[in-house]
Amino acid sequence: MADDASDIEPKNDAADGGYRVLARKYRPKDFSDLMVGQEPMVRTLTNAFETGRIAQAYMLTGVRGVGKTTTARILARGLNYKTDTVDKPTIDLKELGEHCQAIMDGRHVDVIEMDAASHTGIDDIREIIDQVRYRPSTARYKVYIIDEVHMLSTQAFNGLLKTLEEPPEHVKFIFATTEIRKVPITVLSRCQRFDLRRIPAADLVRLFSTISAKEGVEIEDEALSMIARAAEGSARDGLSLLDQAISHGNGHVEASAVRAMLGLADRTRIVDLFGHIVSGNVKAALQEFLAQYEAGANPVVVLNDLADFTHLVTRLKYVPGGAEDVSLSEVERARGQEFAEAVAVSALSRIWQMLLKGIPETENAARPYGAAEMVLIRLTHAAHLPSPEDAARRLLALESSEPQSHPSRPSASPQGGGTSGGASARAGSAQATQASLPGHRRRSPCCARRPPRPLSLTPQRPHRPKRHRSPSRQRPARRNRRRHPRSSRCRTLPTFVPSTARR
Ligand SMILES: Nc1ncnc2c1ncn2[C@@H]1O[C@H](COP(=O)(O)OP(=O)(O)OP(=O)(O)O)[C@@H](O)[C@H]1O
Ligand SMILES: [Mg+2]
Repeated sequence: MADDASDIEPKNDAADGGYRVLARKYRPKDFSDLMVGQEPMVRTLTNAFETGRIAQAYMLTGVRGVGKTTTARILARGLNYKTDTVDKPTIDLKELGEHCQAIMDGRHVDVIEMDAASHTGIDDIREIIDQVRYRPSTARYKVYIIDEVHMLSTQAFNGLLKTLEEPPEHVKFIFATTEIRKVPITVLSRCQRFDLRRIPAADLVRLFSTISAKEGVEIEDEALSMIARAAEGSARDGLSLLDQAISHGNGHVEASAVRAMLGLADRTRIVDLFGHIVSGNVKAALQEFLAQYEAGANPVVVLNDLADFTHLVTRLKYVPGGAEDVSLSEVERARGQEFAEAVAVSALSRIWQMLLKGIPETENAARPYGAAEMVLIRLTHAAHLPSPEDAARRLLALESSEPQSHPSRPSASPQGGGTSGGASARAGSAQATQASLPGHRRRSPCCARRPPRPLSLTPQRPHRPKRHRSPSRQRPARRNRRRHPRSSRCRTLPTFVPSTARR
């Protein structure tokens, strides 16, 4: 029953009846494989299993392709681990246990995998709640793996709460999600949470190099670095790219092939382009950019790579060990260090700012090539500008060498006295300001003779014309109104006079 762990390797392609992509073929099968980039989580789980503190529910979160589903399956395997000699939950899964192969293939009867993206409703959760009462058929624990759990409806989440809080002792829940914020806090508080990190490029390079060797494929170091960088921390993204590169290269993967495949610019040439920018050589920069464009580089990718290199150079100024990153090429490492010593931080941060503004501009432009060229021209032109400190220093030097009178101040006009000339100039400018203000009425020539009212920043009360009452409706002024005695205010009925009396 207990075979060697290597037996868990996927069956070869021919036996499988078809090609199995690298991401599936090399899915980690135990915690030692998963150590790639996820050491903190593995360490916590190791300690928890060793001390018997096994939680009833786990929440695994992280970006795509960092190992959430894989971790869930390995956990299920560890919980139900049983060999001839070991019969307890463990994370030491070197040997293949009784249930291991079935769990890793996703076909074990007691390890139920549910995709919450397609089973979102309360009915699906009700089914789970009804089933948890029954003991597992062959394994130690009944394990429910709910993938993409954030897709469950609110009602479904609420339906799960009670069972999640106090599940039967033979039940464990493992949830996986890419969007932890969509999971209600009530659910989160009942789970032990693990955040799976993006896998560092250096770890990805090592992983891809091992897999390439196992596949019997020669791959250039630079090609590996490019794939690792393009994967952005996701092992699955990187393995899919590696698959594609291997098919492309037919047994030997060259950096140029990967570059063409990814639409990337040559990193060495990016370094050259950066050199032309900081030396202010517009012509050389544009020629270099054109050459890269003709070789198939995407203008937006060129600008992004320039931003990456700017970041690297700036970082190297403060973190000397930063150049030891294995995902960097030799040229980037050596020349990056040179630039870090030669270029000022203010110039680097200006390049960075201009690139941050230029990249979205190029992305949204109808002609990305033209837009990227304009960004490069701006960048190269800015290399000749003084830094803010230099500019301030030069201004100070200029001011101290100048005569006292300031040329920009209004001087005495030849027609009038100095003071009146200045005043009239100020009045003129005030008028000009008033005239240019929105909604300001043009003043009639007679008003123009009057000195203009000073501009007020406080809002003026709008003019309301007085209401005129017609003379008949006019009330007597308050002081003229007669004060009637109290009795006169009471209503008196008209006295009835008989008609005979009137006569
Ligand atoms: N830490 C890792 N070490 C080695 N390979 C890994 C690691 N994480 C992921 N992989 C590879 O990526 C593949 C996909 O991993 P998995 O399905 O676990 O990702 P996921 O986090 O569930 O992604 P998604 O959010 O897209 O579902 C695995 O089959 C494996 O080949
Ligand atoms: Mg998954």
